Order: sequence, then structure tokens, then C-alpha cells
Amino acid sequence: MPDRVRDLAGFLRESPLFTDLDTDELQDLIDIARKRDLAKNAIIFYEADPGTSCGVLLAGKVKIVVNSTHDGREHILGFLGPGDVFGEMSLIDGEPRSATAVAVEASEILMVPREEFLSLLNRQPGIAPKLLLVLSRRLRQTDRHVESLAFLSAPGRVARLLLEMSREAAPTKHEDGGFETRMTRQEMANRTGTSRETLTRVLMDYQDRGLIRIDRQRFIVRDEERLRALVV
Ligand code: CMP
Repeated sequence: MPDRVRDLAGFLRESPLFTDLDTDELQDLIDIARKRDLAKNAIIFYEADPGTSCGVLLAGKVKIVVNSTHDGREHILGFLGPGDVFGEMSLIDGEPRSATAVAVEASEILMVPREEFLSLLNRQPGIAPKLLLVLSRRLRQTDRHVESLAFLSAPGRVARLLLEMSREAAPTKHEDGGFETRMTRQEMANRTGTSRETLTRVLMDYQDRGLIRIDRQRFIVRDEERLRALVV
């Protein structure tokens, strides 16, 4: 189970989106929102569902995916961590959910109903620019991701993912530069738009060439420069 969030008001105040809410407003939000504990692999909502609420991830990890209608394969658009907001797009534009949200590990979320979320946006003009910031960051990441899919080969996309994973793990890296990932090989394949077999082949090739070292869920980027040269 994830670390449970006990001081909800304190947690939300740390989140950039809600930091300006006063204590009463924060309490109103908490009273109206619904906290949910999710088991690993629980679906929060499906792509094309109507958008009835927006979520704040309190603990755990959520992935945002789109599925192929032909063979059910999934493509991972992004991963979310504690403090991240999701499901806001349908509330803003009134369209169905643009993607599916799945808990990749036991997680805790707070779901804010549509009406309350929209009225909060009206009452608190400071929230909208912060939401724009969230959306801009996400779009920027998505642009990079589309660029990868459009212009890089599978080995290039895997190299870029390894560099991203290494950068994101920077604060928790071991002395030898190693880091653990909770991403499965299948999730790495689904993030890079390749098959699991190809992903494994590329990882083995990079290991043989001394670019990385892998021990199950532990990775070390041994030659960042050469890995970077593959992302062109
Ligand atoms: P919504 O369309 O309501 O439901 C799916 C949610 O996934 C969406 O709101 C966003 O919160 C989130 N989302 C959509 N696209 C991306 C993306 N490219 N990266 C991260 N999150 C996304």
C-alpha cells in the first residue's frame, strides 16, 4: 500500500494548484471530494467515458494510456505521481475522456466532482493560470514524445526513455549511478511504441556495447554521451 495521506489539507496546500485556497475553501473541497483507495491495475476511468470528475493523485502512481481498437495494445502517454492532477480536460472542454487512467500500483486519489471543480475555477481566478502551466508542461512533453515516435527508430526511442528515466531518478540514485525503476519491461515497450521483444533486444544490445548495465529493475547509464548520440 502507498503511504496514506493523513493531512489532506496540508497535502493539497503543497500542490501548486490549490496553494492559494484559504482553509475554509480547502475544507469545502475536501468535504465535497471523494477519496478512493485503488488496488494495483485498477481502472480509474476509460477513454471515451463522460468526464464527471477530476482527480488529484495523493499517493502511488497512475498511467495515462490509449488503446489500439484493433489488437488491444496500449500506448502510454504519461505517468503521474503524487500531487498531479488528471481528468481535468473533459471538465474544461465538455468532451469525453481523452485517455484511460490506470493505477500502476496501489494508489490513493481524491476525485473532485465536475460542478465543484468548475465553480472553484470561477471563484478562484488564481487557479486557471496554474492549470495552464500544467497543461503547457504536458503538451511540451507530448510534443517531445510525438517527435520521438515520428522521427526516431525503436533503438533511438529506447535510448531517449533510458535518459529520461535516469534524469528523473537523479535525486534517488545510488553512489554508482544506479537507479531502480518500477516500470515493467512491458510498460517500457508501451511507452516507446515498440514490442516487448524489440525492447529486450535493444536493452541487451546497449548492455553488450557498454552503454548501460541492467540487473532486473536496476539500471545504470554507463555512457550517457553515446546514448545521447543515438537520440538524433
Ligand atoms: P481527460 O481527457 O478528462 O481524461 C484523460 C486524462 O488524461 C486527461 O483529462 C488528462 O488529465 C490526462 N492526459 C491526457 N493526455 C495526456 C498526456 N499526453 N500526458 C499526460 N496526461 C494526459
